[in-house]
Amino acid sequence: MSRSTEMRDAALSVRENAHAPYSNFKVGAAIRATSGTVYGGCNVENVAYPEGTCAEAGAIAAMVAAGETRLTEVYVVADSPEPVPCCGGCRQKLAEFGAGDVPVTLATVGGAEKATTIAKMLPGAFDAGFMA
Ligand code: THU
Repeated sequence: MSRSTEMRDAALSVRENAHAPYSNFKVGAAIRATSGTVYGGCNVENVAYPEGTCAEAGAIAAMVAAGETRLTEVYVVADSPEPVPCCGGCRQKLAEFGAGDVPVTLATVGGAEKATTIAKMLPGAFDAGFMA
């Protein structure tokens, strides 16, 4: 299986487990860490709406829980007419663990894909360098 197929399959698979009874908008995310392992996450909503979490946050949490802190590739999929962009908060979360040139693929269940990077999604990112 190609690396990109592996990412898409992982994101589509974990998306099935999304808990999205309020928006009915299921999202799946896959992130590859430096070891090569792919971690998945889905959105987990809550009746107290602001307590819900995005798919990207879930994938990052799985990666960190497994002991990894650097990511090299991101894939996000949802059942939308156009590939869904990561929300602002998730852009910052991805920037915490990935370099600006990390490729991010935004995709639809139907197969449309849009290629971007962490830096393109979050230009002028606040990072630890500003606190030196
Ligand atoms: N959502 C994600 O999980 N990731 C994104 O990139 C965009 C939005 C979720 C949050 C919420 O559960 C639902 O999609 C609707 O906003």
